[in-house]
Amino acid sequence: MKLNIAILPGDGIGPEIITQALEVTKAICTKFNHELTYKEALVGAIAIDKTGNPYPQETHNLCMDSDAVLFGAIGDPKYDNNPSAKVRPEQGLLKMRKELGLYANLRPINTFPSLIHKSPLRPDLVEGADFMCVRELTGGLYFGRPQGRSEDGNTAYDTCVYTREEIERIVRLAYKLAGQRNKKLTIVDKANVLCSSRLWRQVSQEIEKEFPDIETEYMFVDNAAMQIIQWPKRFDVLVTENLFGDILTDEASVITGSLGMLPSASIGIHTSVFEPIHGSYPQAAGKNIANPLATILSAALMFEYAFDLKKEGALIRKAVDASMEQKIVTEDIAFDGKAYSTFEVGNWIVDYIKNS
Ligand SMILES: NC(=O)c1ccc[n+]([C@@H]2O[C@H](COP(=O)([O-])OP(=O)(O)OC[C@H]3O[C@@H](n4cnc5c(N)ncnc54)[C@H](O)[C@@H]3O)[C@@H](O)[C@H]2O)c1
Repeated sequence: MKLNIAILPGDGIGPEIITQALEVTKAICTKFNHELTYKEALVGAIAIDKTGNPYPQETHNLCMDSDAVLFGAIGDPKYDNNPSAKVRPEQGLLKMRKELGLYANLRPINTFPSLIHKSPLRPDLVEGADFMCVRELTGGLYFGRPQGRSEDGNTAYDTCVYTREEIERIVRLAYKLAGQRNKKLTIVDKANVLCSSRLWRQVSQEIEKEFPDIETEYMFVDNAAMQIIQWPKRFDVLVTENLFGDILTDEASVITGSLGMLPSASIGIHTSVFEPIHGSYPQAAGKNIANPLATILSAALMFEYAFDLKKEGALIRKAVDASMEQKIVTEDIAFDGKAYSTFEVGNWIVDYIKNS
C-alpha cells in the first residue's frame, strides 16, 4: 500500500518523540512492504517564530494532501507565561482541528501489566481496565463565540456552543465504536446545570433508539470524574463534549501509569491526525528523556484507523509491550531507577519490529 503522511513535530519534546514514531513507522512499512512517503511541516510556537502563524497555510495544504498526519505536541513557556500574547501556539492546534474538521478525538485507555505498579490507584482497581474515551473536538467552550474581556479588562467570558448536528455526529460515532467493543456507552454531560448539556442529552436520547443493542447510560461529569478513578473497569465507551473530555482523559491517564503512554486519533471530515495526548513537556525538551511510547502508539492507531492495517498496528503494540516487559523504558516509568533514553527506547522497538 502507498502511505503518504504529514509529519508535524511541533515544539518542546515534539521533535524527539516524533523522530522515534517515524522510525517505527518506517520499520513497519519495510516489514510489510508498504511504500512510505512523508513530508515535515511547521506548527505551534516554532511556526510562529518562523512565519508568524501557528498553523501556516503551507502546513494546512500538506495535511490536506496527505493520507494521515502524525503530530508531536505544541506549546512553549514563553507563551504560557505571557497571557497577553495575541498569537499563541494553541491557536495553531485549534485551527488545524477546525480546518481539518477533526470533530472526534478517540483516546483508548488501557493498562499495561508491567506498569500497574506505577499507577497511584490500587492494582485490583485498574488491572484489566480497558475503555475508549470519545471527546468532541471542534465545539464547546474552546471554539464558542463571543469570547473576550470587558473594556476595563476585569470581566472575562467564554461561550459554550453546541449544535444538534455536532452532537449527532459524535454520538453516532460513539455508538458505532461501542458496537465494535462491549456494547456499552456512557454519555457524560452536566445536563442538570448547563443548557448545552441538555441539548446533548435530548439529542442523545433520540439517537439511543437507533441502537437498541447498545446499553446506554447517562452520567454527570462530576460523577464520571469520580467513577473513572473509583471503578474504571465499568466503562466501555465514554463520549463527552470538548472541555469535559480534555479533563477526564488526563485524569484517566493515571490508570495507565504515565501521561507519556496515551495515544489518540482525531478523525473527522478531512485527513485524520494521530498524536499523543500529552503536551510539549518543555522541561524535558532536548534532553532525550521523554517517553516516546504515546507517540509510537499513536502511529499504531494511524495504521489501524487511517489505513485499516490491523496487523501493522498490532505489531507496534506487541513491540511496545515487549519493551516494557524487558524494562527498556524512559525515566517516567522506570523500574528500580534504571532508565533508558528516548532514542534507546525507540531504537529497541525498531529492532524488535525488524527481528520479529
Ligand atoms: N496537544 C498538545 O500539543 C498539548 C496538550 C497539552 C498541553 N500542551 C502544551 O504543552 C505545554 C506544557 O503543558 P503541561 O506541562 O501542562 O503538559 P505536558 O503534557 O506537556 O506535561 C505535563 C507532565 O506530564 C508528564 N509528561 C508529559 N509528556 C510526557 C512524556 N512524553 N514523557 C514523560 N512524561 C511526560 C511530565 O511529568 C510533565 O511535567 C504547554 O504549553 C501546553 O499548552 C499541548
